[in-house]
Amino acid sequence: MCTTALGHDRPSTDIEIRLEADELAPRKARAFVRHHVARLGYPRCVDDAAVVVSELVTNAVTAAPLGPIFVALPPSSGRLVIECWDLSPECPVSREPDVLDTHGRGLGVVKELSLSYGFDHRGRWKVVWALLDGR
Ligand SMILES: Nc1ncnc2c1ncn2[C@@H]1O[C@H](COP(=O)(O)OP(=O)(O)O)[C@@H](O)[C@H]1O
Ligand SMILES: [Mg+2]
Repeated sequence: MCTTALGHDRPSTDIEIRLEADELAPRKARAFVRHHVARLGYPRCVDDAAVVVSELVTNAVTAAPLGPIFVALPPSSGRLVIECWDLSPECPVSREPDVLDTHGRGLGVVKELSLSYGFDHRGRWKVVWALLDGR
């Protein structure tokens, strides 16, 4: 399956959004996730899901500023999987920021709000994903 010419090596999902890598991307991703997570029947994790996708997309914009970025919610029974796809070959690195550091906390937030998170490479694409308890 493919969604775009660029996406021939990225599996597509019924529930996904294509975003340009710009300053509006995190907000669009939050709105997308809020809408679908509530609709899918996970009202209690709407807020956490919005925070998680915001961090993932913000990182993707920084890492792959030429875009595009895809946010996808693949099927998962009882759990919510949030995927953020970008074209940066670099990997997420969990940092240990000092108290005065202004960067390096995003993945810590994702870790706290998720059951687990990780990343994988698929052709030119990289996916950073988080698994949330949907209940
Ligand atoms: N999608 C990504 N692609 C490449 N590198 C990433 C991605 N997400 C995170 N990283 C790397 O992981 C680091 C830690 O991310 P994060 O905890 O969100 O802190 P920050 O974004 O403030 O640097 C980033 O500085 C970056 O080096
Ligand atoms: Mg970040």
